[in-house]
Amino acid sequence: MQFNVAFAVFAMIASALAAPIGTELSERAAEVDGTLYVCTDNNWGGACTNLGFFNNQCSNMPSGYNDDISSFGPSAGWECTTYTDINCSGATYSGHQPGFATLPSGINDAISSFRCEPT
Ligand SMILES: *[C@@H]1O[C@H](CO)[C@@H](O)[C@H](O)[C@H]1NC(C)=O
Repeated sequence: MQFNVAFAVFAMIASALAAPIGTELSERAAEVDGTLYVCTDNNWGGACTNLGFFNNQCSNMPSGYNDDISSFGPSAGWECTTYTDINCSGATYSGHQPGFATLPSGINDAISSFRCEPT
């Protein structure tokens, strides 16, 4: 019985600690250095989303956008390089604001990851 009480106290402390730590992590995850606006059709058409990124950190495209991007534009002050393979490898295509309303053959519908640096 004593063991069960000790465990219950431990569980209470653990859950009390876990809540603020979890909140802090999700708030930190929401902070990004910049965003890359991507769309599945030419001229910012189709499905579009703002992908947050951290300086010089490779990000793979989320499902729904992988191998489906036809226009993209980085937020102001960033130069983004897109890659046709995951983990920032393969053929590259780079640009800054306003980005590209269309993409060349070989890049269009082929982007799988990206990495951005300050301009
Ligand atoms: C991509 O990177 C992850 C994490 O480092 C690794 O586990 C995975 O094998 C890599 N995949 C390819 C295809 O490079």
